[in-house]
Amino acid sequence: MASINVADIIKELDISKSYLYKLIDKENILIPRSDTGRYFWDENTVEAIKKILYTDSLEDKNDIDSLIYKLGLKQSFINNRRYLGNKYSLSDFIRKTVDENCKGVNIVIDIFSGTGAVANTFKDKMLITNDLLYSNYISNYAWFGYKKYSSKKIIELIYDYNQIKTKENNYMRENFANTFFSADDCSKIGYIREDIEAKYKNKEINFKEYAILITSLLYAMDKIANTVGHYDAYRKNVDFEKKLVLNVLLPEKNINSNNICYNIDANKLIKSIKGDLLYLDPPYNSRQYCDAYHLLENVARWEKPEVYGVARKMDRTSLKSDYCMITATKAFEELIERADTKYILLSYNNMSDNKNFDKEYFY
Ligand SMILES: C[S@@+](CC[C@H](N)C(=O)[O-])C[C@H]1O[C@@H](n2cnc3c(N)ncnc32)[C@H](O)[C@@H]1O
Repeated sequence: MASINVADIIKELDISKSYLYKLIDKENILIPRSDTGRYFWDENTVEAIKKILYTDSLEDKNDIDSLIYKLGLKQSFINNRRYLGNKYSLSDFIRKTVDENCKGVNIVIDIFSGTGAVANTFKDKMLITNDLLYSNYISNYAWFGYKKYSSKKIIELIYDYNQIKTKENNYMRENFANTFFSADDCSKIGYIREDIEAKYKNKEINFKEYAILITSLLYAMDKIANTVGHYDAYRKNVDFEKKLVLNVLLPEKNINSNNICYNIDANKLIKSIKGDLLYLDPPYNSRQYCDAYHLLENVARWEKPEVYGVARKMDRTSLKSDYCMITATKAFEELIERADTKYILLSYNNMSDNKNFDKEYFY
């Protein structure tokens, strides 16, 4: 039987080399080896691997869970994020309030959606999400955007990304080494982000898969960042004990096909949309979200801008919110006037007496 080389096999099976070896290991596939340990590939081996891949179609939840487990990965969910003003802990209460008080709610607009925690509780409805930050748009698209994606592809890519060891000198290492992340984790973040971009441009992944992978990277960064939860400052002279590990995100596939995610100013968007319930959760103090999350925004956008100052921030002029300035009242009035919905539900917090709002804010 003719021998085949490994490059042909991974091409034919459409999997990565590291995943191929992991599969051989995990499924105990016996492949003849030379004295030096080199594999002799043949068509029988390829067929055996194909069988495993074929049966592992990953439509079944148990298959997915077992593959995640076998590969030593973990899953992340929408609540696994620290975010200022995150309403995850209130989301059941919000849902209950709507169910008990509102009729005929089929389209829900979460116009300051942040992490998407509130939209998530209305997943059985048509959702319109929006946020000024592109990083939130990307994660909202990952969770709610209606486009098919391959769970198997996501799991394999996350597995591959976790195997990477690099000290390459890229945008992240040059600008952020030993600030919010160790120098080596910066190299790894830069490498992964660049690879996601390349895969999308080469059409190896679609926009949903692109959004899921970026969101997984942002969650992983946020988990180990040397901060107190936001990126206004980092602690100096720390040991970077936690290492970057990406978790698998597998957003629900059975969602409304009419969902739309936006990334514009709420006051502009409100002019062109209609719905049944408008949920409002604007910022309620002068702290700009683009300042607190500049680094996640930078990585999500991946335009590699110049950064400056101790916190290594990029230019954020176009991301400043009217809701964090003296213009807030006027902006809010206009938003309400222009809303074309049956119901409006507002979350608000009067912070005027609270000097220590950081503590209050984290969920
Ligand atoms: C209080 S947070 C929302 C938190 C969200 N409900 C959650 O559970 O994660 C306010 C959000 O509004 C966004 N934002 C601020 N000004 C905005 C504007 N003018 N238009 C759209 N989004 C805006 C911020 O980026 C931030 O994510």
